[in-house]
Amino acid sequence: MRVDRFVANLPGFNRQQARLALARGEVSVDGQPAYDPRLDVRTFNTVCVRGKVVQQGVAARYLMLHKPMGCVSATADPEHPTVLDLLPEAERSDLHLAGRLDYNTTGLVLLTNDGQWSRQLTLPGSKLPKLYDVETEQPIEPHYAEVFAAGLYFAYENLTTLPARLTVLGPNRAHLSLMEGRYHQVKRMFGHFQNKVTRLHRLAIGPLTLDPGLAPGEYRALTKEELASLEAV
Ligand code: URA
Repeated sequence: MRVDRFVANLPGFNRQQARLALARGEVSVDGQPAYDPRLDVRTFNTVCVRGKVVQQGVAARYLMLHKPMGCVSATADPEHPTVLDLLPEAERSDLHLAGRLDYNTTGLVLLTNDGQWSRQLTLPGSKLPKLYDVETEQPIEPHYAEVFAAGLYFAYENLTTLPARLTVLGPNRAHLSLMEGRYHQVKRMFGHFQNKVTRLHRLAIGPLTLDPGLAPGEYRALTKEELASLEAV
C-alpha cells in the first residue's frame, strides 16, 4: 500500500494530514524519512509516525528445501504429509510455497512469507529456467531433444510448450531445462513418446541450485547473495 494511504488510515489522520506529515518528514519507513507519498509500505516494513512505531515490520523469510518423495506441495492436506510439515510448527505458520512439485518428485522447492516475491517467481511470463534430473523407463532417444526444443502441443491447455533443452546423460537419464511449469509438464513431455518418468528431481530454479549439503527433508534460509542473484535475472 502507498505510504500516504497507509498514514491516512491511521486513527487521527485524514488524507491531507497524511500528506502534510510526509512532507514534514514525520513519517519514517525502516528508519528513513518517507517524503514520497507513492512509497510502497509492506508488512515487512517498520513504520514510525512522529517517533511512534505504528507498524512493526515482520521479518521476510526465504527458504530453500530439499523436498523428499511422498509429500505434497501444499500447506495442508487431509491425507498426506505436506512440505510444510517438514518444518517445526513455530517456523511454518506464515510460509507458503513458491511453486510446486509432484508427490514423488524430489528436489528444490522455495518457501516464503513474501507473496509478492513468490508471485514474481511463478508468473508464467517469468521465464525462469527450472532444471530437472530425469530417469525414464525406456531409453531416451536422440530425437527427443529436437521435439522438446520445438515445443510440444498440450491439447488440454491449447498451448505449445516453450522451447526446452534436453541434455542426455545416459540411456535412461537426462537433464531437462524448462522455462515454465505446466501441470505434470516433464511427465507429459516424456509421455509424448510413451516413455514413463521413473524418477524426477529438481536441481535448480534460475540461478538457485539445491544445496548439496541439504538431505531430503532439510532446509535452510537463502543467503543474501542467492536473493540478489534472483533479482538480477
Ligand atoms: N514436471 C512434472 O511432471 N512433475 C513435477 O513435479 C515437476 C515438473
